[in-house]
Amino acid sequence: MRRPAELTRNIDVSGLVDAEGGLLDRVIFTDRQIYQQELRRVFAPSWLFLAHADQFHKPGDFFTTYMGEDPVIVTLDRNRRIRAFLNSCRHRGARVCRADHGTTRSFTCTYHGWAFDLEGKLVGVPNRDSYPDSFDTREWGLVEVPHVDEYRGLIFGTWNPDPVPLREALGGMAWYMDAMLDHDEEGTVVVGGVHKWVLEGNWKLAAEQFATDWYHVNMSHASALMTLSGKPPKDEIVHRTGRQYVDPGGHGAGFPVHPKNRFDARTVHEWMDYDALRERLGGARVEGPLTNGHATVFPNFSYLPVNGSIRVWHPKGPDRMEVWAWTIVDKSMPPEVREAQRLYNLRTFGPSGIFEQDDGENWSEVQAISHGFITNGVALNYQMGLGTEREDGRYPGRTSELYSDAAGRSFYARWRELMNTPAWHEEDQ
Ligand code: FES
Ligand SMILES: [Fe+2]
Repeated sequence: MRRPAELTRNIDVSGLVDAEGGLLDRVIFTDRQIYQQELRRVFAPSWLFLAHADQFHKPGDFFTTYMGEDPVIVTLDRNRRIRAFLNSCRHRGARVCRADHGTTRSFTCTYHGWAFDLEGKLVGVPNRDSYPDSFDTREWGLVEVPHVDEYRGLIFGTWNPDPVPLREALGGMAWYMDAMLDHDEEGTVVVGGVHKWVLEGNWKLAAEQFATDWYHVNMSHASALMTLSGKPPKDEIVHRTGRQYVDPGGHGAGFPVHPKNRFDARTVHEWMDYDALRERLGGARVEGPLTNGHATVFPNFSYLPVNGSIRVWHPKGPDRMEVWAWTIVDKSMPPEVREAQRLYNLRTFGPSGIFEQDDGENWSEVQAISHGFITNGVALNYQMGLGTEREDGRYPGRTSELYSDAAGRSFYARWRELMNTPAWHEEDQ
């Protein structure tokens, strides 16, 4: 069956994103047709974060999530291979797995009882004899995500049948990610479960902020900073030394640079062997992206190294996102240090964390008023740090100032490129 082209009419978004001049038309946050095109051309072909490897230990361990709006099951098969399947029964389309996570031998649809094994094969059909001879169960297995790969414990998948390899798609961003993921040989593990909450804002508002925005910290988080420091708020953005990494693939990371950089949670700070970290990762990384930064891996995976917070901004229509957040820690951390990191992350960037609240409020605020006809026609400014990107000699790739929209411009340039490029599934149309 082929889908008629009228159902997938594409909009040329060139006039909506001026990444070079730093201007954005906010219709990209509100328009339903643009949103559908994002699902087809941004989410479907990109590598998307699925889960952490520590969520799978024995065959049949599974975790259900989304790729764009497509529900998927991630599971460890009998050969201990991580696989991902569309979580939709081939019969009438119900989910074949309705649990968030668990362990199973098969996935049985609760509608009419079709059952699928860990390899996605259809292995059980009630009333099988009533189907015609032409009915071949081999043709009705779960749809499999064609490529699943892992980078230092982070599992990504893509629907693209012929993608650039994950490592290549991460590009120069991997060096910055390693500052969180590669403190020692043992890598990272997950503590606790996954926090999930809904925000009334477009997913890009969160993704771009984590890529590019240190600018909001003093203003948006003034009350949280006061609570932590006990000092009155600064009425001006104080210049801080730092850099912002600008990746041509749309990824971005920002971090203050300080030779005494440190983890905020005291127990974690005291446990860290900074000399060993310098030895392994180099002084530049320990003084910058190892701790107090923010980052986005295009399109919708973000993290905060000092918190060990990793999160996905799941799109749920143009006006809504679901935030799914994990806390990860070094596997080598003893229980009391893991617990200190978990609690620190909860207090600051958990669903009711003192910083998280401020960010969510901003995104909802921008979204709520963006539907007005006049409002929608007024361009947004992404011009801070225009022209400042350069090779700085210390941080690899192109970097800009800490306070800059450079990674945001790059994020939207990548978004524009994908939105204007037919994806593999359009080739026969
Ligand atoms: S929808 Fe799954 S068995 Fe009918
Ligand atoms: Fe923030």
